Amino acid sequence: MSSPAGGPVFADRVLNDWLSSVGLGIEYSRAEANTLYYVDEDGQEVPVLDHVCGFGSLIFGHNNPDIVAHAKTVLDRQVPVYVQLSHQSHANDIAAVLNAILRREIPGGDGDYAAIFANSGAEAVEICVKHAELERRARVAKLTDETSRNAEEAREAVGAGRATVAENPYVRFDGASGESDRLEQLLAEAGRRNAELIARGPVHLALENAFHGKLVASIQLTQNPHWRLPFTSLASSTRFLRADRPDEMKAAVEELRTSLLDVLVDDGVVTVVERDFPLVGAFFVEPVQGANGMRPLTGAAAREIRAVCDAVGCPLIVDEIHSGMGRTGAFLASSHMGLRGDYYTLAKSIGGGIAKNAVALFHRDRFRPEFEVMHSSTFAKDGFSAAIALKVLEMLEADDGRAYRIAAERGDRLKGALTAVAADFPDVVDAVHGIGLMLAVEFKDQTGASSEPLREKAASGMLGYLIAGLILREHRIRVLPVGPAGNSVRFEPSIYLTDADIARTENALRDVCTILRDQDGDRLTP
Ligand code: F0G
Repeated sequence: MSSPAGGPVFADRVLNDWLSSVGLGIEYSRAEANTLYYVDEDGQEVPVLDHVCGFGSLIFGHNNPDIVAHAKTVLDRQVPVYVQLSHQSHANDIAAVLNAILRREIPGGDGDYAAIFANSGAEAVEICVKHAELERRARVAKLTDETSRNAEEAREAVGAGRATVAENPYVRFDGASGESDRLEQLLAEAGRRNAELIARGPVHLALENAFHGKLVASIQLTQNPHWRLPFTSLASSTRFLRADRPDEMKAAVEELRTSLLDVLVDDGVVTVVERDFPLVGAFFVEPVQGANGMRPLTGAAAREIRAVCDAVGCPLIVDEIHSGMGRTGAFLASSHMGLRGDYYTLAKSIGGGIAKNAVALFHRDRFRPEFEVMHSSTFAKDGFSAAIALKVLEMLEADDGRAYRIAAERGDRLKGALTAVAADFPDVVDAVHGIGLMLAVEFKDQTGASSEPLREKAASGMLGYLIAGLILREHRIRVLPVGPAGNSVRFEPSIYLTDADIARTENALRDVCTILRDQDGDRLTP
């Protein structure tokens, strides 16, 4: 069940020991659809039902035969895989299919989004961070051009004796010898304050308990303090807003309001005016918050987020890396909430379970064409992952979207089973969250449990892992905890989940609930 003994360990030493300690230290040898296999001590292949399915990257399951066959054909045809800076029409082929889907699903959408490809979800998020900054810089430049022009007009008016400089709260004109002198003192102070503001990085908005990746910029948008706090000095900060309090969002964003100082000549007097400064870079939103225990946004939150972005003028970035590609029963989870984004990110299942691929999409009204060469990567937009993406999209869209209907139906069926368990164990289960094949069961907090091992594991945040270990050991089902306190268990299988799989899952959950209800902490220890 663990790595063969002997030889020094250079990779995953701590991680593997820890996985073994919670009962998850298994090496899988084969995978197909929703099943992983490992070989036990007797050399027997043991099947495990996989509810993690590549962290949601396997909408069509492990090693889907159609995708694998397509991959083999692509390789046999000797399709060029890496030919950077040449015409690569496959990029546009993918973007064209995505735009057709977006036109169908986005409320009022016109399906005109430019695509930039990436290698991972976090990279797609970072591409959005960069593009949003380019947009913001352009707005800042427009503003500073205007303030420079206004300063020149004031100089001319004062120099020609047509205007005087009014008293203002920013400079006290001690020792100024004349109007021009007063104006220069004022412009110097305004310039100093403005330069300070312009040098500050943007503040991004995201939702509490958000997960947007773990690279330098994207980790700032991922709220988990253990992962984020050591790196806050490396990139722009994020203001996290509560998704369950949409009414508070406007006020929170209002607190970030700041202004640039400008001068205007009005009726022969130079006065200082404050101009709204675009401090907010972008608002990043997951339509279903995966790491927050699979919580979908409410319609009210979606509307408020759109309103905040419209008021501030920043792009709304809908992160569909986890929720997109059909998992919730629509291509975009945001379409369930009527949420229209300015940028979108997709990753995970676009790789078909065998390639790494991701894409960021930018509405044409906002897209800055120079960005096409400002971001690139050796491996992005490669011929292999592109061919797989086209196959996945074709499979999703086939038969008038049969895959979406299956995802919705299978998801409803699984949710029904999870909800039945929750109803039978109200003292143990808090709630079932999610939509389609993006579900989680939230257990009640056990930090006050009467069983000491349960209490202790809950306090250290390990209870969810031990529950996963037990489900694996005793039921041959792979689940993982999720949620800020690790109190939830995630379910995101492929669309090939069978009724028998669901029945087994329900049975395993009932077992866990019985252990928790009976406070049988010893059974959780591997
Ligand atoms: N955004 C969202 C919404 C995600 O769920 C993830 C990854 C990322 C961005 C980053 O993508 O891993 O390809 O760099 N979520 C994984 C999860 C880790 O647990 O579901 P990545």
